[in-house]
Amino acid sequence: MPRILFADNDFPDIALERELFARHGIELDVAQCRTEDDVIRAAKGARGMLLQYAPITERVVASLPELGIVSRIGAGYDTIDTAACARHGVWVANSPDYGVGEVATHALAMALASVRNIVAWHRDVTAGRWHYTSAGPVKRASDLTLGIVGLGRIGKRMAHVSRNLFRRVVACDPYLIDGDFPAYVERANLEEVFAQSDIVSLHVPLTAETRGMIGARLLAGMRHGSHLVNTSRGAVLDVDAALDALDRGTLAGLALDVLPVEPVAAGSRLAVHPRAILTPHSAFYSVESERELRRKAAQNLVTWLATGRPDYVVTAGTRKP
Ligand code: NAI
Repeated sequence: MPRILFADNDFPDIALERELFARHGIELDVAQCRTEDDVIRAAKGARGMLLQYAPITERVVASLPELGIVSRIGAGYDTIDTAACARHGVWVANSPDYGVGEVATHALAMALASVRNIVAWHRDVTAGRWHYTSAGPVKRASDLTLGIVGLGRIGKRMAHVSRNLFRRVVACDPYLIDGDFPAYVERANLEEVFAQSDIVSLHVPLTAETRGMIGARLLAGMRHGSHLVNTSRGAVLDVDAALDALDRGTLAGLALDVLPVEPVAAGSRLAVHPRAILTPHSAFYSVESERELRRKAAQNLVTWLATGRPDYVVTAGTRKP
């Protein structure tokens, strides 16, 4: 009976995975690995690995010659050294399309909450202040320009669900050909997106190129009173530079679902900032998307064991089931 390691998870229970693997005659080991050493110890002899945040590094894959595949429960895979996996022939799979609508809706909700002052007004009202100007001026949404950085699955959906709300949608994505830009999205470069937009929403993966890509220089080029939304990965944005921009008024609102270090430190400058809106890396979440996310990530292992290839390939491997 092939054995799979469930390397880490933060789910209330894992009945879904247990049931799927049992149905296909696959043995399941469950661990909560935080470090490389945890993973190496727990995965000895496993043919495949299902994981959330457990680190998959060169040392991990080099130490596990029987491991054929790792499947990440999520769309992003920046916790996995995909180049090392490719060198060792280990397949990398993910679950890329379970929550495109959820993340886009969440980004739009954060953008509108920021533009419409929802959180600040709520705080004022519950503190006994009842006046429409209590939280400062509000601009008309239909006069605003939305800028999107990264026009992939989620960025495109964000553009689609937002296109009738704002005056213009501009986007930058150097890896797309012109034909992949919808007609209602104007193409721009990164500097132009920041200079022309009233709201910028980030939708890039975390890579060597995008790490720290949004910092003081780009923020300084924004219009006074703009808004920034990040539902991609925390390390794409220099949060201190964004807080400085908030204090200067360049940013009127900062809405973050993802942080360089999660969770936010209690009492930190970000946690107590009155113009920052925070959610706990929950953009992906709905009851339905969580089920789909977990089913697809686990199914990658079932399919690989049966056919030698997972459903959603990030990096093709050479190791066989
Ligand atoms: P995707 O791969 O479909 O799209 C990413 C786009 O970014 C691609 O079109 C790519 O060409 C573009 N890109 C790459 N480097 C760029 C750069 N330097 N400048 C501009 N564009 C660049 O990925 P998808 O599904 O749209 O997801 C985007 C990210 O959202 C994921 O990588 C993940 O990190 C994050 N995410 C966050 C979730 C949450 O709960 N907050 C849930 C799901 C995904």
